[in-house]
Amino acid sequence: MDTKIITNPSEQDIDTLAHALRNGELVSIPTETVYGLGANGLDSEAMDKIYAAKGRPSDNPLILHVPNSESIKPLVTEISATAQALMDTFWPGPLTITLPKSDLVPDRATGGLSRVALRCPDHEACRVLLERAGIPIAAPSANISGRPSPTTAEDVYNDMNGRISYILDAGPCTIGVESTVVEVHDDKVIILRPGGITKAQLENVVATVEYDTALVNAATKPKAPGIKYTHYAPDAPMTVVVGSPEAIACTFKELSEGIEGPIGCLVSRETYDLIKGNTDFMCHCFGHHGDALALGHDFYKSLLHFNEKHVTLILAEGVDDDGFGVAIMNRMEKASSHHIIYK
Ligand code: TXA
Ligand code: MG
Repeated sequence: MDTKIITNPSEQDIDTLAHALRNGELVSIPTETVYGLGANGLDSEAMDKIYAAKGRPSDNPLILHVPNSESIKPLVTEISATAQALMDTFWPGPLTITLPKSDLVPDRATGGLSRVALRCPDHEACRVLLERAGIPIAAPSANISGRPSPTTAEDVYNDMNGRISYILDAGPCTIGVESTVVEVHDDKVIILRPGGITKAQLENVVATVEYDTALVNAATKPKAPGIKYTHYAPDAPMTVVVGSPEAIACTFKELSEGIEGPIGCLVSRETYDLIKGNTDFMCHCFGHHGDALALGHDFYKSLLHFNEKHVTLILAEGVDDDGFGVAIMNRMEKASSHHIIYK
C-alpha cells in the first residue's frame, strides 16, 4: 500500500479522506497534541487495522475523536453535570473523558471496558475532517507501539509508510504531548494519564480531582490499560536529570565519562551554555530552564532526531513535577525506564 501525504487539502481532498475513513481505511490525522492513527470508531474491522499497523496490545482501548460535545450523545448512556462542565470548559482541547458507553460503541474501541474515551481536538483541519466524516474517529498516537509519538507528518510517515492509506499533514503539533485522560464521576474526576490539561485547571471546574493510584504507586493496576506498557522509548538508553543548570551540566559530564559518542542531550539554553564545549554532546535546546511547555513541545521530536543520528546515550533535562511538568515527567519516566536523577 502506498501512503499518500496530503498537505493543504482542497475540499475534494477532505472528501476523499472522509470517504476513506467511512470505508474502513486508516488515515493519520493531525491534532494539537500528537498525530493520531484514525479509523472508523464504529467499525470493529477498521479498528483491528489500527492494532495491526501499530503492533498495539489488543487490550489497550482507543480514544474516539469527535468534532463537538453534541456528537458524543449517541456514544454514551449518560452525561453527568460534571462531564458537561468539563466539556464546556476544556473542549475543544487536550482533555479526554471516559463515560459509560452506549451499545453503538463496539467493544473493539474500549478493549471490552464499559467506558468509552472521548476527545474533541482543538485543531481546525482535524475538526473539518471529523465533521465531514460524520463518524467518531478512533485514533491512538500514530507511532509503532512503544516508540516516541509523532508530532509531524514526517514522523508519522517514518513509522507508518506502507501501513496506512493517507496522512493529513497540517504541520507540527502545537502541544507535542498527549491529552489528559480522566474518568468522570458525578462529583469527582480521576486522572488516568496526565497531559495537556493540568490538575489545577481541572480543580477550577470540579471540586475533587485525584490521580489514579497507579500513577503514584507502580504496584497498582492502572485504570488506563495503556499506562502499564513500555512507551515513548528512544533507541538509545536515556537518563533524565532534574536540578539547576549547573547541577545538570555537572551530572551530564559524570554520566558521559567513558561513553563513546555521540551523546544526544536535550537541554535548556542555560544548560547548553555550560556544556556546549563538550564535542561528544549533540545538543537539542528546547527553550529556557524550567519551561515545561517548551520542553513538551520538543520532547518526542528530539527523541526521534536522536534515533536518526544513532546516538549511544540520551541525557535529558527534566522539569519540576507540577503543572504541565507532571505530564512531561510521566513521559520522561517511561522513555527512560525510570532513570531519573534528582539533584
Ligand atoms: O492526545 C491524545 O490523546 C492522542 C491524540 C491522537 O488524540 N491520542 C492518544 O491515544 O494518545 P493513545 O491510544 O496513544 O493513548 C490513549 C490512552 C491509553 O493510555 C489508553 O489505555 C487510555 O487512553 N484509554 C483509552 N480508552 C480508555 C478507557 N475506556 N478507559 C481507560 N483508559 C482508556
Ligand atoms: Mg500512544
